[in-house]
Amino acid sequence: MIDPEKILASQRGAVPRYTSYPTAPHFSDQAGLAIARSRLQRLPANEAVSLYLHIPFCDRLCWFCGCHTKHTLKYAPVEAYVGALIREMATVRETAGRRLRLAHLHLGGGSPSMLRQPDFERLSQALRDNFNLDAATEISVEIDPSDVTDETLTGLVALGVTRASVGVQDFSDAVQEAINRPQTFEQTRDVIAALRETGIHSLNIDALYGLPLQTEERLVSTIDKVLSLAPDRIALFGYAHVPWLKKHQTLIREEDLPGTMDRFRHAGLAADLIAAAGYDRIGIDHFAKPGDTMAEAAREGRLFRNFQGYTTDACRTLIGLGASSISSYGDAYVQNIVPTSQYEKTVLDGGLSATRGIQLSLDDRIRAHMIERLMCDFSISFDGLEQKFGYAARPYIAEAKLAAAGDCHGLTEVDETGFRIREQARPFTRIVASWFDAYLNESSVRYSKAV
Ligand SMILES: C[S@@+](CC[C@H](N)C(=O)[O-])C[C@H]1O[C@@H](n2cnc3c(N)ncnc32)[C@H](O)[C@@H]1O
Ligand code: SF4
Repeated sequence: MIDPEKILASQRGAVPRYTSYPTAPHFSDQAGLAIARSRLQRLPANEAVSLYLHIPFCDRLCWFCGCHTKHTLKYAPVEAYVGALIREMATVRETAGRRLRLAHLHLGGGSPSMLRQPDFERLSQALRDNFNLDAATEISVEIDPSDVTDETLTGLVALGVTRASVGVQDFSDAVQEAINRPQTFEQTRDVIAALRETGIHSLNIDALYGLPLQTEERLVSTIDKVLSLAPDRIALFGYAHVPWLKKHQTLIREEDLPGTMDRFRHAGLAADLIAAAGYDRIGIDHFAKPGDTMAEAAREGRLFRNFQGYTTDACRTLIGLGASSISSYGDAYVQNIVPTSQYEKTVLDGGLSATRGIQLSLDDRIRAHMIERLMCDFSISFDGLEQKFGYAARPYIAEAKLAAAGDCHGLTEVDETGFRIREQARPFTRIVASWFDAYLNESSVRYSKAV
């Protein structure tokens, strides 16, 4: 019998979200610039890449927010930043020596929806000047509904956006007040209708559990409202309370936060409601309609994980532009300069803004694959591991067998074909993934709750 209380009380109750392995705190200072330059110069001809553009600005500051963003009431800094992003695109083209073909483009933040129409148009032009986009290029954007005006919609059309992800979090007044994020259901519903009218064919909604003053009743009411909007995908994240990293989270009263076991119950309750409405469960925190490309990818073992979470994007290379963005080059990760002003100065001087980075060793690559498969499929196929890494996989298969044998909580099972997380233990996937994390024990980094 699995005992959630015992598992969550263990020292592995706080672990990374594994949007990469090794995780960002283990990137080394200054290693990134040389890696970024050499990888861009050596990209195979014709290989399509993905691009992430980070917009680190918001016109409100939600107290729960864990993103790299800055509250601004003035628009001038945002306009100046867009100029820097455009310069960085040109530097990437110059470094690569050609216009790279884009399979996916994602604008995240912060709130890309606070860009004004002329800036969407400038970005759209610069993207087309510096990269090759075609009808198959997927363009997605994160939207704060409180930003959206007719001008925003025109801007999104100019950019050619095909997918949108809309932030909801929670619809009850008490929770919204406790997190400083007023947002009515009607406002959200109208924005979603308007986005659909522009031709955006795929919509995701973000909801959160673990928020202050959230009760079962409030969560159920939020999920019912989210379901009434019929999004193609839903992301149900657990609120990561990390006030030692995000000072504004100290504005949230700790006594208002649900306890660990309440979080666990709330996560299960919301997930069951979404699944009962006909959505497939995807990984640890996503849901998709069965006909959605993410649900198809999950069924076929083609789901991946990148810095934005779950993705169907199979490109080896993801180039992150903008302050704090992380790029992935298959065998290396690189993070851009985090402070916006320093980032802008570096790129406007014509440089790449990569700073911290890590080149993955063979051990890192094998563990990264094992952790990604656990996060996406809840299992590691031993055949799959051997096909990818040959004999080098053997010690890791032995390690997985040992891990299952020593699993006193009964979360996993193993046989000759593979290592699996039991169905009832899926909420603890991050904990099981952490067993294969070679950096965890040697680090003093503090993480958010595992569930
Ligand atoms: C960049 S925001 C989404 C776009 C837009 N800024 C908005 O808030 O509507 C990305 C998502 O991250 C999630 N998020 C932000 N802070 C979080 C935290 N501390 N813990 C868990 N999820 C968080 C929220 O669900 C949010 O919608
Ligand atoms: S949740 Fe979204 S709108 Fe709120 S501060 Fe964070 S990025 Fe900005």
